[in-house]
This record gives sequence, C-alpha cells and structure tokens, in this order.
Amino acid sequence: MAKVKTAFFCQNCGNQYAKWQGKCSACNEWNTIVEEVIVKESNTKSDWRPGNGNTRQSPKPKKLQEIDFQKEDRIVTSDKELNRVLGGGIVSGSLILIGGEPGIGKSTLMLQLALRLTGKKVLYVSGEESDQQIKMRAQRLGFESDNCFILTETSTQSIFQQIESLHPEILIIDSIQTLHTAHVESAAGSVSQVRETAAELIKYAKESGTPVFLIGHITKEGSIAGPKILEHMVDTVLQFEGDRHLAYRILRTTKNRFGSTSELGIYEMQGSGLREVSNPSEILISQREHDLSGVTIGATMEGNRPLLIEIQALVSPAAYGTPQRSTTGFDAKRLNMLLAVLEKRGNFRLGTQDVFLNIAGGLKVEDPALDLAVCAAIISSLEEIPVSDKICFAAEVGLGGELRAVNKVDHRISEAEKLGFEEIHISKFGKKNMNMEQHQIRIKSFGKLIDVFSDLFG
Ligand code: TYD
Ligand code: MG
Repeated sequence: MAKVKTAFFCQNCGNQYAKWQGKCSACNEWNTIVEEVIVKESNTKSDWRPGNGNTRQSPKPKKLQEIDFQKEDRIVTSDKELNRVLGGGIVSGSLILIGGEPGIGKSTLMLQLALRLTGKKVLYVSGEESDQQIKMRAQRLGFESDNCFILTETSTQSIFQQIESLHPEILIIDSIQTLHTAHVESAAGSVSQVRETAAELIKYAKESGTPVFLIGHITKEGSIAGPKILEHMVDTVLQFEGDRHLAYRILRTTKNRFGSTSELGIYEMQGSGLREVSNPSEILISQREHDLSGVTIGATMEGNRPLLIEIQALVSPAAYGTPQRSTTGFDAKRLNMLLAVLEKRGNFRLGTQDVFLNIAGGLKVEDPALDLAVCAAIISSLEEIPVSDKICFAAEVGLGGELRAVNKVDHRISEAEKLGFEEIHISKFGKKNMNMEQHQIRIKSFGKLIDVFSDLFG
C-alpha cells in the first residue's frame, strides 16, 4: 500500500510546512495551519535534470523584437458592465475569478452571461446545484440559448473528459471550492484541492485558449476562500458585492492583467435577473418632491467612473446623555473628525446633537471628496435650511476647516453638468490647471468651509 503523504498548509496564505506550528511564519496568522493528505500520482511531474534524457522541447530565449505581437482576442459580451470591468471583453485563454458572499448573485450573473452569449458554445459546470435548479433559474432569467450546456460534476478528470468531446468556447465553473482532482486526496475546498484544481484549469485555459470563469466563495473577513495564491494564479479577480437587502450590486475589478483595476460595474437585482445600470447616478439620487433639509449631492469617483450620490444627514437634539453618531456607507471616524472641524472652526454646537449619516443606495464610499457634501448636509439639517437639488459638491475638508483639492475634478464637473446640475462647489486650490471655459455649469470655488456656508445658508 502506498504510504500516505501529508503536509501542513496555512488556510490563509497557502504556505506549506513539513510540521505543524501554531503561527504561520509567512502571513503571521495564528491557528491557520492544518494537515492535509497529498498523494500525487508518481508520473504526473517528472523531475528534469540536466543530462537525464529529457526529450521535451524547451523554449529558447528570444529577442523581444522577434516576438510578433498579436492584439489579444476579446469576446465582447452584450453585458456592457462586464465588458467594462474586464477591460473591454473576455480575453481568450484567460482565467477570471469571481468572488462574492453567498446569495449575492454570482451564479445568476454567470448563467445570464452563458445564456446571452448565443454565438458561443458555453459549458456551465455546477457543483452546487442540480440541473433542475439551474433550469428553474434560467426560466426566471427569460433568455434562451441552444449553445449553453450544463454539467453537474465536481471531478476535474470527468470535466476534462466532457470538454474533450464538447469543445466549449467558454467554460464556467461554479464553484472552485466544490471541485476535486484525483491527484490530491484531501477534501474538496481544502487548500491543496483548490490550488491543484485551479492549476489544472489554468493549464487547460492556456493550452486551449478557452477563457475560464471561476466562481469563488468569500470568507467572513471578505477575502476569497482558499489559498491567497489563487488570486495570484488567475489573470483577473472580480469582486461581486452589495448589501443583500438592497437591490444594487457592484462588480469591482481588484486585479486585471488585461486592463485597469479601477473599473466598476453596477447591476440591479430584479425578479428576472440582473439588470445593467448604465447611469448609476439615477439610482443613487432619490426623487424628491420638495427640497428637504439635510440632503446634499456629492460628486465622487469610483475608479475612473464619476458618480453623483446623495448624502442624507439628520441632526437632532440628543434626548439621553451621550449623543449618538451613526453612519451607513461612510467611515464613522471621518464623520467624527468632520463634526469636530465644524464645532471648532465653524462654531456650530454639535456636541449635544445626535448625528445620523446615510449614503443613499447602499454604497460604501471612501472618497474624501465627499467631505464638503457631508458637512453641508449636517449643517443643512442642523439649521433646517434645504440645499437646492441643483447644487453638488466636490472638496476635501482639512482639519483647519480649509477646502482641499480633489483628484480628477474635471471628470466630476463634467458628470455633474451631464446630469443637469446648475452649480458645483469645489476648492479654490483645485482649479489652477483647469479649463473653466469649457464648462456650462456654474463653478464656485472656496478656500474655507465657512465661506461655503455663508454662500449656502446666508
Ligand atoms: P445566486 O446567483 O444564487 O447567488 P450566489 O451564486 O452568489 O450564491 O443569487 C441569489 C439571490 O438572487 C437569491 O437570493 C435570489 C435572487 N434572485 C433574484 O432576485 N432574481 C433572479 O432572477 C434570480 C435568478 C435570483
Ligand atoms: Mg451560487
């Protein structure tokens, strides 16, 4: 009987050890190292040694000039948001990892892609659902395709057998954590299984030129479960995120060998699948009948995409003892800092008030350019004076109450203009190398926070 070979792997970073230890010396995490059985087929990898009759033709070094360049082939899908995050379409032979929490809509997104790419033969391999469940979902989505094949299988060897006879043009794996290969004996979802099956799929993708989508689950901490190296192995990593109670979903590129990583796609989950949202500002700004106090619009950037989003603040006298500060979608520490600046530099009495802050649409934002809009919303609510819905803001607030310049202010201004805003408030330090003439929108620039307030609230 073959001797059982085991090794120890860190569940966090995938580092391998010969012995168990309490702390992973590669990623410094405690209690992440587990033992796994690895029995490799002896003839899968033969050791190459100089002079031992190695017959494989190994590639020779070439001059860079001698390599003829072919622009990578891209499959442009009908899903514009997906094209955008992939950098213009699916590159052939690429491996794309889609991570997200359970129930966020990863399977829906992929099935929708498979059904809408009618011109391409797509194989959707599911280890999570039965073909009945997939059929039911497809009916819900309402697309029909006679080029979409479903396979419910988890063994990579059987998957590759099917692939040999089917020759799909796109392969979708739902999910990498359910796959297992016969070359490794540990359970599906374990570090060595995930790594080995991913390596097999990469080999297949590169050799056949077929793009492969891998769905991956996410751990509680928000990283893709399985070894970190999975992210290093693939070409593109997309994160699918959003609040499960809200309809909006964001597809974010966190790694891309074939395009920029600052791209963002927005979808809305409907009864009949995911709808692309091409003008996100339409959903991020709520419809108002009359002017409300405490509501302002900030011009933010998500990657290269300008977004106008609504900020809502509610300031009311604290009924019991310590005033409450609560935020959704905005950093609580940053809110505390802005409140301190307003108190100290603007002489607003906020120390006895409850302050609630909400970013509309369930988005989480980190852009400091929203500072001015947040401050204006707070003061608007405190003073009960509405800010016109034709005004928007883009400036960072410093500790001295000064307004600081923000990046890509031109993009923000153009987007505000496109959406019909009449006025934008920015920092006077940001307009130095800007061409003011080209904009129709009124651009007001200020040096200090209090100057903005005297202009807005008199
Ligand atoms: P799913 O794609 O199964 O998520 P994941 O693969 O990421 O775990 O999507 C799950 C949720 O989406 C589920 O709660 C139901 C909802 N949904 C809709 O609202 N509309 C639809 O058309 C579909 C197919 C799903
Ligand atoms: Mg799923």
